[in-house]
Amino acid sequence: MRIVEVGPRDGLQNETAAVPTAAKIAFVDALSQSGVAEIEVSAFVSPRWVPQLSDADQVFEGITRQNGVVYSALVPNSKGLDRAFAAGADKVAVFTAASETFNQKNINTSIDGALQRFRPIAAAAEEAGMPVRGYVSTAFWCAFEGRIAPQAVLRVVEQLMEIGIAEVAISDTIGKATPDEVRRLLDLLIPRLAADRIAVHFHDTYGRGIENMLAAWPYGIRTVDASAGGLGGCPYAPGASGNVATGDVVTALEDQGVATGVSCRQLNRALEHLAPYRIDGRRKLPPDGSPLCAACPYSNGEACCGHYQNPF
Ligand code: HMG
Ligand code: MG
Repeated sequence: MRIVEVGPRDGLQNETAAVPTAAKIAFVDALSQSGVAEIEVSAFVSPRWVPQLSDADQVFEGITRQNGVVYSALVPNSKGLDRAFAAGADKVAVFTAASETFNQKNINTSIDGALQRFRPIAAAAEEAGMPVRGYVSTAFWCAFEGRIAPQAVLRVVEQLMEIGIAEVAISDTIGKATPDEVRRLLDLLIPRLAADRIAVHFHDTYGRGIENMLAAWPYGIRTVDASAGGLGGCPYAPGASGNVATGDVVTALEDQGVATGVSCRQLNRALEHLAPYRIDGRRKLPPDGSPLCAACPYSNGEACCGHYQNPF
């Protein structure tokens, strides 16, 4: 299994704590020694939208790259791609969703609008020989629209393929999928798309990330995203908690006799670089009946998202 460590991007984008650039660099450098195949270092998104990652350029500049490790970044538009080229990223990831509402809230455009933005990105990256991943968020559930039909995911996947995206990351943004739902979606996708072009990206809100990854394994899926310490979440997805923890993924796979080559001890060393900044990994949904919006970490200053009254 190829493990893609997304902690420096998915983990740190959702933190309220201010993490200094030097600590991010030290975190990535330590992760580079852990044996993971790929590290999503940061995101070249609008600093107005995700101020936590506004230092993406400096983080890329500061890291010490290890041979054999792929250093990737999120890009939402051509401006992001230009920044990724300038920073020397090895790979970029565009991101859209199977839910229109989430897509609007996250990248301020429709699914079609996003795909139009991605077309020139895919073409320019191909010309530069740079691989592109395409995330499909809300592949099972959306915080705003509820359950998402597998057919809606297939439509987005096919469009990403059509514009030349090499790898799609099927993403359970709010961590609500069950293994049966994973199987239902993969039953639909696999006949149309080779398993080696699919990655799985599970958030672990309900503690099912590991079961879900193991459900994907028999389909031939061999790329899984995870974040050290279970950091993560999306600031525009109410209720999204951390990604499945890298150490849990390593342990679960090795229990099944699958070698990962990843050192849990080194993952823990990496996390020590974040220890002073009160990072709250493995964040779980607050219980029903918690204080309403005034105390809601997901409100983003907008109207109540209904999360506490009606958690999906
Ligand atoms: P917009 O406001 O519609 O776009 O945002 P805009 O073009 O009007 O830009 C607004 C400002 O941002 C402008 O600056 C631009 O120059 C600047 P101003 O003129 O106002 O000073 N800007 C940029 N600056 C630097 N780099 C850029 C860039 N683009 C614009 N690339 C936009 C549209 C897509 C930019 C915005 O919505 C955005 O950045 N969204 C990103 C949201 C995000 O990062 N969400 C979290 C990641 S997705 C996720 O976590 C899910 C995932 O993990 C999978 C899963 O779990 O589901 C991947
Ligand atoms: Mg995510």
